[in-house]
Amino acid sequence: MRTTNNTILVTGGGTGMGLEAAKHFSELGNKVIIVARNAERLREEAAKLANTTAIPCDLSNEDELRNLVYILKRDHSDLNMIFLNAGIATNYGLLEGENAYEISKAEMITNFHSAVLLTNELEGLLADKPESAMILTTSGVAFVPDLLHPTYSATKAALHSYALGLRLVLQKKESTIKVFELMAPLVDTPFSKAVKSDLKMPANQIIKELIAGLEKDDFELHVGLTQQIAELSRKSTQEALKFINSVTG
Ligand SMILES: NC(=O)c1ccc[n+]([C@@H]2O[C@H](COP(=O)([O-])OP(=O)(O)OC[C@H]3O[C@@H](n4cnc5c(N)ncnc54)[C@H](OP(=O)(O)O)[C@@H]3O)[C@@H](O)[C@H]2O)c1
Repeated sequence: MRTTNNTILVTGGGTGMGLEAAKHFSELGNKVIIVARNAERLREEAAKLANTTAIPCDLSNEDELRNLVYILKRDHSDLNMIFLNAGIATNYGLLEGENAYEISKAEMITNFHSAVLLTNELEGLLADKPESAMILTTSGVAFVPDLLHPTYSATKAALHSYALGLRLVLQKKESTIKVFELMAPLVDTPFSKAVKSDLKMPANQIIKELIAGLEKDDFELHVGLTQQIAELSRKSTQEALKFINSVTG
């Protein structure tokens, strides 16, 4: 997948890996559209980058999501890449009195259902481009759960499964759309503040690896510790489970 001269939607583009991706994509000569809830921060960040537009949107709200699709089709018909990266996680213990049902509903809508809606609604726009891509951010916890984030882990497992199916369906349709999955390790962003660990990778490094992976058509990117988790989970789910929970504490 080429990494210049694209028009790229980046969700979660106001902070962390999304912002880092927006910076790199902008520097590489792409048009970038960043999306997140915090409108002020989003607009401030977009103003610092060349060819970057901010569209505030709460991806957990169906009306706002559908309005985002409407704006993209109306104002950005050259869109050919979507980086669905926004995500939330709640740090809590299962069976310890928290409302796991409500927590998991919020996590699932943001992390999974929004990606289902956006990939379905934007497939037509991407399909008529000579080269196009959908990139989904998952995690090493898609292979085995991290008990600090028990239901979040399940949302990433669902998204991983969805990415596999989506790629196969698009291949069967002989679509030009490529599906990439960025399986991130622990990354030093606002998202991982609650996790005490010196194994966090800088967001800048993750995005450099993403860009290298896009250029090589490496469709499932296992970055850093995620590679170890992937290998271990193929050999023994129990070993991988022990390993991931020793890393996150
Ligand atoms: N950091 C890690 O250790 C790690 C590891 C593996 C995977 N990941 C994944 O990487 C992705 C990016 O996270 P990050 O680490 O870069 O952390 P981050 O800086 O917290 O980024 C998450 C972004 O998602 C946006 N967001 C959250 N809920 C949203 C909603 N309902 N609508 C629109 N935007 C929303 C946030 O902006 P607003 O608050 O302004 O909406 C924020 O910009 C996430 O999918 C996360 O699950 C992170």
